[in-house]
Amino acid sequence: MSGFSADWLKLREPYDQRARSREVIAAVAAAVATLPSVHIVDLACGTGATVRALSRHLPARQVWRLADNDLGLLGRANAMARTHDVKITAVPLDLNRDLEVALDGVIDMVTTSAFLDLVSKDWLERLTTEIAARSIPFYAALTYDGRIDITPNDPADASIVAAINQHQATDKGFGPALGPEAAGYAIANFERLGYAISHARSDWTMGPGDRDIQLEIFAGWAGAAREIGALSLADAASWLTRRRASIAAGISSLRVGHVDLFATPTGRR
Ligand SMILES: C[S@@+](CC[C@H](N)C(=O)[O-])C[C@H]1O[C@@H](n2cnc3c(N)ncnc32)[C@H](O)[C@@H]1O
Repeated sequence: MSGFSADWLKLREPYDQRARSREVIAAVAAAVATLPSVHIVDLACGTGATVRALSRHLPARQVWRLADNDLGLLGRANAMARTHDVKITAVPLDLNRDLEVALDGVIDMVTTSAFLDLVSKDWLERLTTEIAARSIPFYAALTYDGRIDITPNDPADASIVAAINQHQATDKGFGPALGPEAAGYAIANFERLGYAISHARSDWTMGPGDRDIQLEIFAGWAGAAREIGALSLADAASWLTRRRASIAAGISSLRVGHVDLFATPTGRR
């Protein structure tokens, strides 16, 4: 499965849904609770996971604009089940080039998930500035924060984790990516812009029964470590073989650190 394939997004969605901070979702819901209808732009929507996670917590009348540059994912987002009062428009956009187009028109809130760690410091600055200029709130879920804890321990884990975090900082289409630093930068930017922030951990937790997703994640990490050149092919392959054996033996668990944040304007800028 590739980085943003529909199959991968489908496999991870239940883990994402479970990981999302209830406390941060409650803050999002409270911020828009009194609006008769809410207009939301979801950036890098994939197949529409944020709509599925948030919709039931928001006022009944919702107008969503979903932006992504992957037409296959957008098509799935556009086809998703919805109630009569939930309107969805899928917009194909390269957010590196056309962020301002995505943010055009009436908007009450901007959302995103599993995306901020892909962008550069400059692009994040652009995003936070554009949102603050409109004085609207921003919800970003599931930003990877660099913490990885694998059970049982393996002597090569530290090298693999260091390689993943190095790979996280490579260019994903927006310039050098912030990776694990993204949530911290977003929080600092919004604080500087006079926003109040709620944030909480939203870690993936996987136990021995979560075999398929652990197999995918470990294979992806071994590939990323090879791509970075941090480990020899033999070392990456033997780490992966040991990890697969632990999964097969029903003793493999994994925690991957993420952060959810909600930033809302205070008017104190
Ligand atoms: C990890 S996925 C997250 C998708 C979705 N938000 C979710 O939580 O399932 C990252 C998303 O960013 C989108 N993306 C990456 N680069 C982009 C760009 N330059 N413009 C628009 N979307 C982009 C991908 O197509 C993908 O849908």
